[in-house]
Amino acid sequence: MQEIKFYSGENLPLELHKVRIVQKLHLVPIERRLEALYEGGFNTFRLSTKDVFLDMLTDSGTNAMSDNQLAAMMQADDAYAGSQSFVKLEKAVNDVLGKKFLLPVHQGRAAENIISLAYVRKGSLVPMNYHFTTAMAHITDKGGQIAELLYPEAYVVNSAHPFKGNMNIEKLEEVIVHHGPKNIPFIRMEASTNLIGGQPFSVQNMRDVRALADKYGIRVVLDCSLLGENAYLVLQREDEFKNSDMKTVMHAFTALADLCYFSARKISSSRGGGMCTDNPEIIKELEALVPLYEGFTTYGGISVREIESMAVGLYETLDETMICQSPSYIKYLVGELDKKGIPVIKPAGVLGVHVDAMQVCAHIPQTEYPAGALAAALFLISGIRGMERGSISNQRDEYGNETYADMELLRLAVPRRVFTLSQIKFVEDRLTWLYDNRELIGGLKFVYEPPVLRFFMGGLEPTTDWPQKLMAKFKEDFGDSL
Ligand code: F0G
Repeated sequence: MQEIKFYSGENLPLELHKVRIVQKLHLVPIERRLEALYEGGFNTFRLSTKDVFLDMLTDSGTNAMSDNQLAAMMQADDAYAGSQSFVKLEKAVNDVLGKKFLLPVHQGRAAENIISLAYVRKGSLVPMNYHFTTAMAHITDKGGQIAELLYPEAYVVNSAHPFKGNMNIEKLEEVIVHHGPKNIPFIRMEASTNLIGGQPFSVQNMRDVRALADKYGIRVVLDCSLLGENAYLVLQREDEFKNSDMKTVMHAFTALADLCYFSARKISSSRGGGMCTDNPEIIKELEALVPLYEGFTTYGGISVREIESMAVGLYETLDETMICQSPSYIKYLVGELDKKGIPVIKPAGVLGVHVDAMQVCAHIPQTEYPAGALAAALFLISGIRGMERGSISNQRDEYGNETYADMELLRLAVPRRVFTLSQIKFVEDRLTWLYDNRELIGGLKFVYEPPVLRFFMGGLEPTTDWPQKLMAKFKEDFGDSL
């Protein structure tokens, strides 16, 4: 994509789209935000959008949809079986992901459930670059375990490494040899590794994984939910692909996997999900499970309207003026926060900006969930809703003990084409204030802890009256400003 320079010399992420449908936002007073936190158990998942100003919880199902996606929804073929909407989606998967057979499912984790049901048994080990919460939950639910095999660089916050999501190839071989290839149902690679800050892996790394998989006869499963953004960063960062294009890079990745799956909520800015492969054996194994858990194999639990918009959305991931939008906002915000000394994951990745709560809240022990506390504090002082990606998002081990996360992150998602630059500047402004007042943030403790995926519905409370003190300081500094 050609660079657009400003005469002023400023380096700004210029939007290459116009806004044609808008939705009103509400910035409610800080007193109401404090009440909302108590009502929602200091868990940003449990806030109501009527209390949220900028919703940076996730990009999942919240990316802006294009005019062409919305138009396509009107042409849907509502049939239980053999729908022509499915035929269009299958063609899009073929063109964009280069895979022949498609099984739609209602969202990404449904694919994780079905893949785990098909291949994971008690005693199975699934090596992966890093876990995603739902992928891990489905694997452990079926009696399997995971092994996360990143290079040490992946955990360095202030880094310039272009591919922190790379699988540690030496460790991977060690694990395969030690555990025995027959106990490894598949190797999982996650594009734009979500939980370490949306960090990509290189095509070369994927080739190295493939070589080991071939040596030991193991399947490779690629989570493509964030493949578009990973491919976009390959164009920027991997020399071999400097003059390449999105489609070539996407195909380079998917060709190296036996089975791909995706959350359409992410990759195609729609809803739904899917699994695709060229291997007729694999499709047979998975196909048997789809009607049982999802729906008939031409709709997989998704509305046909969404299937139409998925097909169009998949093609749009190949458009660099679309796919660059979220990463370029993230790069801008990371750059501005970094200039102020606010610790954020570097280099800027995809999906969102990741603030290092371990450093910002160095005074809060991990037992009191610094990333959850930072998420609550930011909401209180700004109405910005981020997501805890730290120990609250971890699950307890098989003996019921807490497992502390490698990184305590506050993720501020930047969904595609949703925010304006002045809103991004508001995020920068309020985060800067919070950073300057960080000593006022205190810890959290669980009062209600669900047994699985506790971060979704769990309830917490502050360990002291720190939210009241933080609010008082906000009012002192901002007067009657919202
Ligand atoms: N894989 C990755 C890499 C994901 O980021 C997600 C969802 C899934 C699988 C599961 O897909 O939500 O459609 O069931 N990530 C969302 C997030 C929830 O906020 O990061 P799903």
